[in-house]
Amino acid sequence: MLLRLDSVQRHFGGVRAVDGVSLEVEQGTIQGLIGPNGAGKTTLVNVLTGYVPFQAGHAWVGADELTGLPAHRIAALGVARTFQNIRLFKELTAIENVLVGMHTRRRDDTLAQLATLPLFRRDQRGRLNEAHKLMDTVGLASRDVGDRPAGTLPYGDQRRLEIARALALRPRLLILDEPAAGMNPSEKHRIRELIEHLNADGLTILLIDHDMRLVMGVCNRVAVLNFGRKIADGTPEEVSTDAGVIKAYLGAGSEREVRSVPGASGVDEATEAEEVAGSGGRSVEPENAILEVHDLTVSYGAITAVRGASFRVAPGEIVALIGANGAGKSTILNTLSGLLRPDGGSAMFDGLDLTAAKPSAIVRHGLVHVPEGREILARQTVLENLELATWARRSSTGTHGQIELVMKRFPILGERRDMRAGTLSGGEQQMLAIARGLLAKPRLLLLDEPSLGLAPQMVDEVFRAIEDIHADGTTILLVEQNALRALAIADRAYVIETGQIQLSGSGDELLHNPAVRRAYLGG
Ligand SMILES: Nc1ncnc2c1ncn2[C@@H]1O[C@H](COP(=O)(O)OP(=O)(O)OP(=O)(O)O)[C@@H](O)[C@H]1O
Ligand SMILES: [Mg+2]
Repeated sequence: MLLRLDSVQRHFGGVRAVDGVSLEVEQGTIQGLIGPNGAGKTTLVNVLTGYVPFQAGHAWVGADELTGLPAHRIAALGVARTFQNIRLFKELTAIENVLVGMHTRRRDDTLAQLATLPLFRRDQRGRLNEAHKLMDTVGLASRDVGDRPAGTLPYGDQRRLEIARALALRPRLLILDEPAAGMNPSEKHRIRELIEHLNADGLTILLIDHDMRLVMGVCNRVAVLNFGRKIADGTPEEVSTDAGVIKAYLGAGSEREVRSVPGASGVDEATEAEEVAGSGGRSVEPENAILEVHDLTVSYGAITAVRGASFRVAPGEIVALIGANGAGKSTILNTLSGLLRPDGGSAMFDGLDLTAAKPSAIVRHGLVHVPEGREILARQTVLENLELATWARRSSTGTHGQIELVMKRFPILGERRDMRAGTLSGGEQQMLAIARGLLAKPRLLLLDEPSLGLAPQMVDEVFRAIEDIHADGTTILLVEQNALRALAIADRAYVIETGQIQLSGSGDELLHNPAVRRAYLGG
């Protein structure tokens, strides 16, 4: 047994985040850890890696007890991890981030370095080479992106960089907290190959992810948490057909109709695609647009992220932008909300020049952006976050009723209303970010990866919410790696590759376009 947890407990006030969890991870295996949003997965990892103190229980890696050790000592015992909310040094280059990861490796290292300078230099060169190799291992072209500040890399690449940094520790146990979040199916497939490759080299892996296909496909065993307790532990087959697990994922009553956890097989996706086939959509560019983007070009220093993109959104439409990581989708949204300034081209929203207006003026004009990676106010309470979201609205009447409504939609936000938003789980923060976007009642809502980090049942809830506010008259521009879901609700969509629009059509057309299916829908 490489990792052994015995009755680990961690409560926060009345919240039983981890409530007596025992788990054994065998050397050389890939162990999955799944569960609904807020189930306690990240907290369990935070406890066993020394980021949050144990309250009760014990943990061992090999013969070494982890209980009570600080994070750096646990790292030095060969336990490496990635973070759900990416924790890179954003100002440092990608390579420097990997080098930082080597520091905790051996406790005697630093002394040896100080003692003899020439040796230090030789060691530095060796480390630099190793850092480049690690970046290449995780699928980042180190020659191209090694010198870029980590914060400027696309979200998916930042996740890969986190894995490279964790590997720099030369760990015995690698813990991955949602490594595939924000990736499309083909990118997820490469993450799966990476996990398998690392495991084949002898690394033991503990994998947390909401993508059931990934988890069930790659893990030897899977444990399931719900409300801080372990409710199942077994092979993927056993776990995905376990009645208690299905209930935890779908709510009471569901176990009669469904025989496995949603997303655990490809079945859902095929039926969804068929349903959409009958719905038909508009494929022509609209005549009257509320948003008109023409020949937009945006760069980060020497790197051009968006190259002459043109598209239109008509009032009342849902338009999706799909494409791989780094294709330029988030850059486009950030430019439309005034966070970035383009090098060229135009973007008009209902008479307002978005390339010149201040972000605050853009919001007041009725354009609200829910950015990728949440960006909630961590120190403010959940309720304060929601209240702040309503400032952009023209009238404040009914604000509290609206807040109550979103709390009904996302009950956990009601339960946590007086807690600091920073203490919410990853998925709960995502719900808060979306709830804020909904509350702002914009005329045009830009949503960047709304399904990020959400368990399957919450993804359904969020897509229902998007359709509801759309039905209320809000126009929506949606960026989403879950292209299948995005195309299923979109009137029209644009496919973006390396900063250029390659293809456009109705959601339906693109859903059935073989090239799109291959590239973005995983089939
Ligand atoms: N520091 C804290 N103070 C108060 N409550 C906390 C704190 N940290 C976590 N919680 C609560 O504990 C519960 C478990 O959170 P955790 O982050 O472990 O969930 P998770 O399983 O990782 O969920 P997700 O899939 O959404 O990432 C959540 O309901 C969260 O609100
Ligand atoms: Mg988590």
